[in-house]
Order: sequence, then structure tokens, then C-alpha cells
Amino acid sequence: MQSLLRYLSEIFGNAFQQAGMDSSYGDVVISARADLGQFQCNGALAAAKAARQNPRAVAESVLANVSPREIFADLSLAGPGFINITLTDQFVAKRLRAAAADARLGCEATPHPEAIVVDYGGANVAKSMHIGHLRSAIIGESIKRILRFTGHNVLGDVHLGDWGLQMGMLITELRRHQPDLPYFNPEFSGPYPEESPVTIEDLEQLYPAASARAKSDTEAMEQSRQATAELQAGRPGYLALWLHFVGVSIAVLRRDYGSLGVTFDLWLGESDAQPQIPTMVQQLRAAGFAELSEGAEVIQLPPASEDEREIPPLILVKSDGGAMYGTTDLATIQLRVEELYADRILYVVDARQSLHFEQVFRAARRTGIAGHAKLEHLTFGTMNGTDGRPFKTRAGGTMKLHDLVELIQTEAIQKMEEAKIGAEYPDQEREEIVRMVGVGSLKYADLSNHRTSDYVFDPEKFVRFEGKTGAYLLYAAVRMKSILRKAADQGFAPGEILPPTDAERELALLLTRLPDEVEYAADRRAPNYLCEYAYNLAQAFSRFYDRCHILREENVALRGSWLALVKLCLDQLTTTLELLGMEVPERM
Ligand code: ARG
Repeated sequence: MQSLLRYLSEIFGNAFQQAGMDSSYGDVVISARADLGQFQCNGALAAAKAARQNPRAVAESVLANVSPREIFADLSLAGPGFINITLTDQFVAKRLRAAAADARLGCEATPHPEAIVVDYGGANVAKSMHIGHLRSAIIGESIKRILRFTGHNVLGDVHLGDWGLQMGMLITELRRHQPDLPYFNPEFSGPYPEESPVTIEDLEQLYPAASARAKSDTEAMEQSRQATAELQAGRPGYLALWLHFVGVSIAVLRRDYGSLGVTFDLWLGESDAQPQIPTMVQQLRAAGFAELSEGAEVIQLPPASEDEREIPPLILVKSDGGAMYGTTDLATIQLRVEELYADRILYVVDARQSLHFEQVFRAARRTGIAGHAKLEHLTFGTMNGTDGRPFKTRAGGTMKLHDLVELIQTEAIQKMEEAKIGAEYPDQEREEIVRMVGVGSLKYADLSNHRTSDYVFDPEKFVRFEGKTGAYLLYAAVRMKSILRKAADQGFAPGEILPPTDAERELALLLTRLPDEVEYAADRRAPNYLCEYAYNLAQAFSRFYDRCHILREENVALRGSWLALVKLCLDQLTTTLELLGMEVPERM
């Protein structure tokens, strides 16, 4: 089934065409004046201007051409040439019945599916995740789900930072503490121990110590650089040690991402692109793209069109031959295009890396490495504390993801106690609800702003059970479930959706919108539109439920129709929340 706005736009587009004008003038939108009509078509003004005609006359001839007509309860002309549109209740009911009978709730799969890689998460091995990584995980997960739902073949890749200087730092720091480990002995010929010499707790101590030392001590820094270069050149002991660092980190990352409901199809990282780099650099040299500049090799990035600005070249190979962040990203694009057949790669990364991606993308396009693949950097803003500055711990350090999740869980427990939710449930179930409410509220708070805006981390506000929060929406969904359960207990089942009356028209009309909302959010890579939709659904439902006393209604057909609306509303709300990465409890 075509989305409603697309269907109506096609009808009006045809009407414009028959009047001798372009069909694009037929775009239909939700009415800004609900008192005048449910939808509007405003194209007559622009069409008339282009054709140097009277807009009202144009609108009238368009109106005369509208077909089919029987789905409209009212078509009227207003002002200089606006067309107000109201559908018949029969037509609305018919749409809803079709949506309710469809596993995809009436959302058509895209006719042009693409292979899309979403690069998000981006945690760094051995370093704790911070807020930027949290936002990337939350936003990336939602965008992945939305695009997958619209019918694309989507792969999420965590793209771990597992190959940088922090590795050399860890190696030298560990050597300082335990110089006798076989990994440091160049004479040792293996095999190396299978058991990791470090735990995640060790790594969490080693890294800050190493990083502080490297900052204040140039010799320590030099040693770290040296160790990084040796690792990257393939020194066996260092490679064996590195594998342990990565293994230990990944186990923890899986747990942390898992507790957020964030999962990846691919656990690749910067290191996976390294084998690709030598040949790629050779190819670039051979094709004349590599240029010597102050001992390094760079790719110049002249603007390809007037809309492009001047940007510095991409450093391909440093003077010491070490791997660069940009080179790694370039090689990763090559892999994704050649081995994953990517048509499109989306990077959900902090806005602060904008220049980096501008350089990488331009280099990938200019050199042909991107092939036909489209590259997009989906930026996001920072999460601030209530003081308006990037969120910090009480002690002033950067907040770790784990602590942050803990903060929100604590708040969820308190709010649930205040609201007397789940007190009588078994412990395990209550804990699950706390997790869903805490994580869901955090995600909703993050996603409900457009991703490019900054927002304030305020757990107390996020977990409130009233207002525009994740907690409220989960509660609303659970309430719908409970209504359906109560009805079933009394032997009442959802029936056929009848043409809405004044009491349920607002909800019914809203329920025709899901396909358009999903498409809108997908096209803009902007989950916030779905946050808005979920909230509108919950609010409209609540007004409907105040007016329509479902379980006391004696007219069987009407009661069945209302229950079917509850069911459709619940299904839409659940689907929308799932696309945001939220989980809905069975009861609360
Ligand atoms: N690990 C990087 C960081 O912490 C983020 C990686 C983003 N993705 C990429 N392909 N560069 O900043």
C-alpha cells in the first residue's frame, strides 16, 4: 500500500498534469489549519506564477480534474488558491483496516534497496567509552533499524579504534610493570600464553597511567611511538599481546553495548584495514595521486565544484611511515566497497570530526576508491551537563558510559518507587523493567532532539512518567497492552475498524501516518521525527480513551472497532519505539 501522502500527492499531481502543468505541484501535506481540512495542496500558487495565470483559476481547474472523488468528504478552495482536503471516514477506515492486516503496518518496502554500511559506536580498545561514543551508539543503532525497516540491506559495523598510539602506550606501560613477560623478550620463539596477562580492570588502570606519562615525559612518548611502530610492523610478541588487549576489551564492549540494546553485525576495526593499505598506497602512487610534502605523502583535495571549499590535503603516509587515521578510513572504504558491495556508507560520528570526513570523502571520490558508493557523515552535537558544558563527573573527569547508565538506572528505580510501579512483581521482572525504563528514557531523551543539536543530560527529567519522555511512552504502550488483556479476559476481541466518528477521528487520522513518518525519518536520517510521532500517538490515544469507554460499550461492533484501534495504535507505537531502539515491557 502506498503511503497516504504519496497516494494523495499522486492524485493531485495527475490533476495538475491534466490541467497542463507539472505533476510536482500536486504535493499534499498535512494541514496546518485542522479547522479547514485534514490536508492541503498549495501547488496552485507556484504553478500559476510559473504559467502567469490566476492562482484561483488554476486551483479550480485542478479541482475539476481530481479523480477519484469519492474518497473526499470535502475539497475546497481557500484564500488565493489553497486547496483544503478532507477524507471520508469510510476511506480512512479502509486504509486502517489494510494497515492492521499488514505485517508491516502498511509501510511499503523501498523499491530501491541498497547495501548500506552504518559505521557507528567507534569505541577505542582499552580506553573507556565516553559520551560521544554513547551518542554514536544510540543514534547509529536507531538509524540502522530505520533503514533496515524501510527495506535496505544494512550492516552495522562498530569500527573499533584498535590500532592507534594507545596500543604502543599500553605495551610500554605493561613492560614497565612486568618486564619479564615473554611478549617483551625478542628471543622468545613462542608459543605465547593463551591466557591474557591483563584483565579489563588492569587495562583501565594501565591506559590512564600510560597516557599521563606520555604527556609529561617525552621519552615515554617516544617509547610508545616506537612500540606502536613495531606492533604495526608485525613484531610477534607485541602482536600476541595486542590480541589479548583487543579480546579483553571486546568482551566488555559487547556487554556494555548489549546493556544498551546496541548490537553490531560486524566487529571490525581499524586493524582490519591495515593489510589493505600497502597495495592501496601503491595504487594511489601509480595513479599519480600521492604527492610528496615535507617528508610525508599527501593527497591534494582541490574543490571539485563551486560548492566545495578549500581544505587541507589528506596525509596518506607520514614521514615515519606510520598508519594514519585518514589512510585507515580510506582503506576501510575500499574494503566496504569491494568486499561488502556497499552502495552507501553512513558514519555516525561526532561533529568535531567533520573536517576529517570531508577530507576522507573527497579523497575517496577523487581517487575513485569510493566507486559508485555514496558517503555521508551524520554528525551529532554534544551532551552537556546542567551547567551547559560538556558533561563531566563530579570530580571533573569525562563521564564513562558505564557510570552514566548506572546514574539513569538509579533514577529509574527511584521514579518507579515513587509511582509505585512494579513493587509487587518478582525481583527479576522488576529489574528488567528498570533496565527498559532507564535505557529507554536515555535513548528517547537523546533521540528526541535533532541529532545535530546539543542537549542537556538530566536523568531526573528523562525518567519522569509524564511529559515527553521515554518512560511516559513505555507506560503508554504498557497501558494499551493492559487494556487489550482486560478485554480478552472478558471475551472481547478486536473487530473490524468502522468509519471513525468525532470521538475517534483524531486518533484514526493519526494512525494513517506511520508510513509517511518512517519514510521522512529515514530520508533525513533523523530519528527525532519518530520520537515526535510516538508522543503524538500516546497523546491522541489518551484523549481517545477518555472519550471512548471501551470495556463498558455494549454495541459489539463499536467495541470491536475501538479495540482494533487500540491494537493498531499499540502495534504502531511498539514498532516506532523499536525503531528508536527501545524495548517495551509486558506490564508495569
Ligand atoms: N574511534 C574513533 C573515535 O573514538 C571513532 C571512529 C569513527 N569511525 C570512523 N570510521 N572513523 O574518535
